[in-house]
Amino acid sequence: MLEKIKETVDYIRQRTDGEPVAGIVLGTGLGGLVNEMEIKNTLHYSDIPNFPVSTVKGHKGQLIFGMLGGKNVVAMQGRFHYYEGYSMQEVTFPIKVMKLLGIRLLMLSNAAGGVNPDYNIGDMMIIRDHINLMGNNPLIGKNDTSLGPRFPDMSEPYDKKMIRLAAKIARHHGMKFQVGVYAAVTGPTFETPSEYKYIRIIGADAVGMSTVPEAIAARHMDLPCFAVSVISDLGVEGKIVEITHEDVIDAAGLVEPNMTRLIREMIETSDL
Ligand code: HPA
Repeated sequence: MLEKIKETVDYIRQRTDGEPVAGIVLGTGLGGLVNEMEIKNTLHYSDIPNFPVSTVKGHKGQLIFGMLGGKNVVAMQGRFHYYEGYSMQEVTFPIKVMKLLGIRLLMLSNAAGGVNPDYNIGDMMIIRDHINLMGNNPLIGKNDTSLGPRFPDMSEPYDKKMIRLAAKIARHHGMKFQVGVYAAVTGPTFETPSEYKYIRIIGADAVGMSTVPEAIAARHMDLPCFAVSVISDLGVEGKIVEITHEDVIDAAGLVEPNMTRLIREMIETSDL
C-alpha cells in the first residue's frame, strides 16, 4: 500500500510546484472554491497513477494545486464515495497521498440532510463529531504502522482549535452556522422518515454519505481534520419532502460563497 501511495506522490511532485500545507475536499455542489484559487497545476484523476475515477455528476474529478489565502493548498474537486462501489481503501487513498505530499490540515466539505429540528436548508454546520453508520471502516485489514497505530484514538476527531477559528470567522461575517454531529451512511438511497428519526435519536444533527472515511484515515495518520456540512434538505418530521441529487447540488450552491470564504480565511489566519 505504502509503495502505491509513494508512486502517486512521486508522480504528483514531478508535475507540481510548492508543497501544499492544507488539503481541501470539495463536496457535492461545492467545487466553486477553486475559482478563488490562484491555480498553478491541475491534474485529472484519470491521469494520476493509482487514483480511482469519479463517476457522479457534480464531481469534476481533478486535483488542483495553487494558492488560497496566501498559502499553497491542494483541492480535490470531486471525491470518491463508498456508494459508487469503491472500497474504503480507494475512498481514502487520496487522503493518504495528500498527507505524504506534506499537508498539515485536512478540510472536508459535504452536503448533508439536517435532522436537528432547529436546522434550516442553507445552514452551514461545522462538524464537531461523527457517528459512523457505514458498517465499514477504512482501517479494517492489515495495519500499516508507518502510517498510524492499529487502534487509533478518536477522542478529538475534528480539531478543536480549527472549530473555534471557524466559529470566530463565521460570527465575524454574520454568517449563520451550526455546530453539530454528522452521521455517515452508505447511501445511495436517501433516508426513509423512520431512518431520519433514528439518526436524530442516536445523537446526530445531520446525515450524509461521505466525510467519515476520510476523517478516520486522517486521524489514523495524526493529521488534524476540519469538516463542514451545508444543509441541503431536512429529515425532520413534517418537513420531509421528496428530494433529488439535483436539489442537493442546488442547495449546496447557494451556501458555497460563504463556505468558500470561511475556508479561505481559516487558511489565511491559521499558522499552517
Ligand atoms: N441524506 C443522506 N445524504 C445526504 C442527504 C440526506 O438527506 N442530503 C445530502 N446528502
